[in-house]
Amino acid sequence: MVKHVLVTGACGLVGTAVVDRMAADGWQVTATDLDIPANRKAVARRRGPGSPTYRWGDLTNSSEVAVLLKEAQPDVVVHLAAVIPPTCYAAPRVARAVNVGAVEILVAAAERLARPPRLVMASSVAVYGARNPHRDLGLLTVDTPPDPADSYGQHKTEAEAILRASSLEFVVLRLGGVLTVEAGTAGNEALEFGAMLPADGRIQTVDVRDVATAFAAASAAPVVGETFLIGGDDSHRRVQGEIGSDIIEAMGLAGALPVGRPGNPDDDTSWFATDWMDTASAQAALDFQHHTWDGMLAEIRERAGWKRPLLRVLTPVVRVALARRSPYRGAPGTYADLWGKVRAKWGEPAPDPVG
Ligand SMILES: NC(=O)c1ccc[n+]([C@@H]2O[C@H](COP(=O)([O-])OP(=O)(O)OC[C@H]3O[C@@H](n4cnc5c(N)ncnc54)[C@H](O)[C@@H]3O)[C@@H](O)[C@H]2O)c1
Repeated sequence: MVKHVLVTGACGLVGTAVVDRMAADGWQVTATDLDIPANRKAVARRRGPGSPTYRWGDLTNSSEVAVLLKEAQPDVVVHLAAVIPPTCYAAPRVARAVNVGAVEILVAAAERLARPPRLVMASSVAVYGARNPHRDLGLLTVDTPPDPADSYGQHKTEAEAILRASSLEFVVLRLGGVLTVEAGTAGNEALEFGAMLPADGRIQTVDVRDVATAFAAASAAPVVGETFLIGGDDSHRRVQGEIGSDIIEAMGLAGALPVGRPGNPDDDTSWFATDWMDTASAQAALDFQHHTWDGMLAEIRERAGWKRPLLRVLTPVVRVALARRSPYRGAPGTYADLWGKVRAKWGEPAPDPVG
């Protein structure tokens, strides 16, 4: 029997891949996201035979959510809508309303249905807080105690608690650093944020197609009540500074990215909330790791194709332009000051006092 999934945040990086994956797997898909021109345009570009149904709406509006769920009557809700870094630091009220408030609304509306759906929710390794790679902290596991260091990690921790306290069948997927081989998807703010991160901070990346496979598997497998860490295989255990430089090299711009600043080994609070993860139990249950780091780079190289030689010629110009935009250009000190830079550019990143 065809099962029906409602995907929230369906026009985002992960949502687009989840909609494609689940439609290809034979699910009936209802996709929902904010009614904004960028989302409408993105959907119009992708329209084709077998496209999912799109329902526009704001998940912070409880009556819209009630109608959406009542009409869709899904078997599963894959909840991806969120306001992520760095935007969440610039719009803290909206971020809390979406990252926590919308989860409360969605859970309450789902619980009221005659046949409540399974809710599969995107969380983040941000729940674990700042991770200093110079301490012997070991890999992140599902049992590592959450200790959020920023508002985003706090929101995700609260959202998980709402789900666990509900009567719904649920699965929580804590995602690592999600990347795509598709060019031009990272906005300027995301690039600027990336340049602020300590270059030697650990991060486990994961191809967005593998994330989509994990959500599809978590929607059907007998994993109710589980929490999983979703990162790529061991080839995805990188340090922050390598990621941008490897990707830009694959595009034909080797050496164009300024070398970032390392984090302060003596300050445990100054690091970002990413680290290497133990993904063994997630992989055993969901079988989602199909794209290696080198495989992703090879695809980026291939997609860049004829543009690579052109970009190689432009490398010196791009190098100068990027160096001018470096957040640490002319700044005193030698270590990265992630949270100071975030505060100056977007706003207070610390957890909300109300949390
Ligand atoms: N991208 C990553 O590296 C990463 C890492 C860890 C966790 N996550 C989590 O995965 C999920 C998907 O992330 P993403 O990278 O696709 O983010 P994204 O920003 O690309 O997509 C989020 C989507 O949510 C939608 N949205 C925001 N507010 C809304 C509202 N009020 N009503 C309805 N829709 C709304 C946005 O329009 C957007 O399309 C999020 O929950 C995020 O916290 C992402």
